[in-house]
Amino acid sequence: MDDTGFSLTGKTAVVTGGFRGLGAGITAALLDAGAEVTVLSRGGPDAATRARWIQTDLADESSIASAAEQALSRGPVHILVNNAGTQIRHPAVEFPLSDWDAVFQVNLRAVVQLCQLFGAPMLQRGAGKIINLASLLSFQGGVTVPAYSASKGAIAQLTKALCNEWAGRGVNVNAIAPGYMDTEMNAALIADPVRSRQISERIPAARWGTPQDVGGAVVFLASEAAAYIHGQVLVVDGGWMAR
Ligand SMILES: NC(=O)c1ccc[n+]([C@@H]2O[C@H](COP(=O)([O-])OP(=O)(O)OC[C@H]3O[C@@H](n4cnc5c(N)ncnc54)[C@H](OP(=O)(O)O)[C@@H]3O)[C@@H](O)[C@H]2O)c1
Repeated sequence: MDDTGFSLTGKTAVVTGGFRGLGAGITAALLDAGAEVTVLSRGGPDAATRARWIQTDLADESSIASAAEQALSRGPVHILVNNAGTQIRHPAVEFPLSDWDAVFQVNLRAVVQLCQLFGAPMLQRGAGKIINLASLLSFQGGVTVPAYSASKGAIAQLTKALCNEWAGRGVNVNAIAPGYMDTEMNAALIADPVRSRQISERIPAARWGTPQDVGGAVVFLASEAAAYIHGQVLVVDGGWMAR
């Protein structure tokens, strides 16, 4: 450990969805902190990157299993960031159950499977860091995104459940709940001048969040400086929840 405990030199990280949106900020921050990074996603990088890529479809159990096997065949994985997520919008009364399943597959079932596949060797070594991406909708219900809200509520509870089983065995499981972040996921909200202004005015920091804002929080939770932090859902929202 360095003096401050924030360095990730010599650590290996896996980030799902690590080339786009918040994931790009997380990958960049982990690389800057000294970690080697492997990204699991459907699409590859848009630009040159030091991160490795294993093409993975998180909607497919066998694709996830084979990606984890490939990543682990290169050596131990010290940090798992379950960043990838998806959102489908319909009024609750007519929400197609096939879309419900699609959201739950990527946002929850894939996370459980990855926690098992990467968590098992962490538990054997007695060390590891898992960081899940929750949401403000882990606490609030949202409107016309009931599957997303329910899946993110479940992510917060999964994080606590794994903490209770794994903290005493050297594995830190925590989550980050981003607020309103300027990514593709929010393209429709950002394009709506009225909603976009209403949201900005309610954020105490007076701006939408960026992928960099989340990257710093991930590096902290992945570092030895956060060794005694377990089962937390760290809100990174410019103060939204305080209002
Ligand atoms: N943006 C926000 O305001 C906000 C707020 C709270 C929480 N979050 C959470 O933060 C995380 C990142 O969000 P974001 O805003 O960066 O979303 P985004 O811009 O829509 O990016 C989604 C990422 O997930 C990956 N992904 C989606 N489906 C996948 C699949 N089937 N297989 C593999 N990868 C898949 C995508 O990669 P490929 O398309 O290349 O596969 C992409 O990298 C999500 O869990 C989201 O729920 C976001």
